[in-house]
Amino acid sequence: RTVYVNGDYLPENEAKVSVFDRGFLFADGIYEVASVLGGKLIDYPAHMVRLHRSANELGMRFTVSDDELLAIHRELVSRNGLEEGAVYLQMTRGATDRDFTFDTEKLTPTLVLFTQARALIDSPVATRGMKVITIPDLRWGRCDIKTVQLLYPSLGKMEAKKQGADDAWMVRDGVVTEGTSNNAFIVTRDGAIVTRPLSNSILPGITRATLMAYSEKNGIRIEEREFTVEEAKQAAEAFITSATVFVGPVVAIDGVELSDGKPGPVALGLRQTYIEESL
Ligand code: PDD
Repeated sequence: RTVYVNGDYLPENEAKVSVFDRGFLFADGIYEVASVLGGKLIDYPAHMVRLHRSANELGMRFTVSDDELLAIHRELVSRNGLEEGAVYLQMTRGATDRDFTFDTEKLTPTLVLFTQARALIDSPVATRGMKVITIPDLRWGRCDIKTVQLLYPSLGKMEAKKQGADDAWMVRDGVVTEGTSNNAFIVTRDGAIVTRPLSNSILPGITRATLMAYSEKNGIRIEEREFTVEEAKQAAEAFITSATVFVGPVVAIDGVELSDGKPGPVALGLRQTYIEESL
């Protein structure tokens, strides 16, 4: 694989980042994951708008132009012959001797991109659905910023695996915030889709926004409000959205089956719509 590091395209085993990089020492970095279908980037502009927002919120310098970023994405997709998968981008504040304080102006941000080939359309998530467990949301208070502080979500997904599930939905103040790497939705008995409103407690998902626009266009009612685990367990269906899964039907929550333990028609329909409209 060819990867991109600070201006260079290199074989992955030759690419290097400083041991003093603040992304490595302090998780002082942000990222984006944009999916690729048929060699084409999906929802790309929205991912870059969010990257700028993340940088702004953390006071990080942005030293690369939008044109360059797009060119790097396209170059990597082309050099690696990526048909289906994702482009991962990480930007950190830069490298400097270890210190809790820093002078952003004196630092040069580190920029790394690489591709990951993965079957996105023919995925088991669509055919058998996902089982989720629930865990307390112990993340920091700025989950709206897409930072590389992913230890808690990573451990949460490991706990889910240990329990024979696929993912964990996090719960704060009695209501579901989001999945470890996706936004959470339920479908009510009368066919409306419910997802919590945006706040500092969740990532403003790009797939979430696009899906809501498609739903509105197709006359599906959207209720943007919080929901509890109890309500979710009694819902007609549940699903998640993320750049790499698109729409993933949820078939069980804490061992309680939804839609007879099979992907529900609303989730599958939305998944189909999302893929068709994206291609
Ligand atoms: N995760 N919520 C969280 C906590 C996420 O990490 C993600 C994305 C989402 C969905 O956002 P989007 O639709 O823009 O992908 C919601 C990416 C895919 C990841 O960490 O790999």
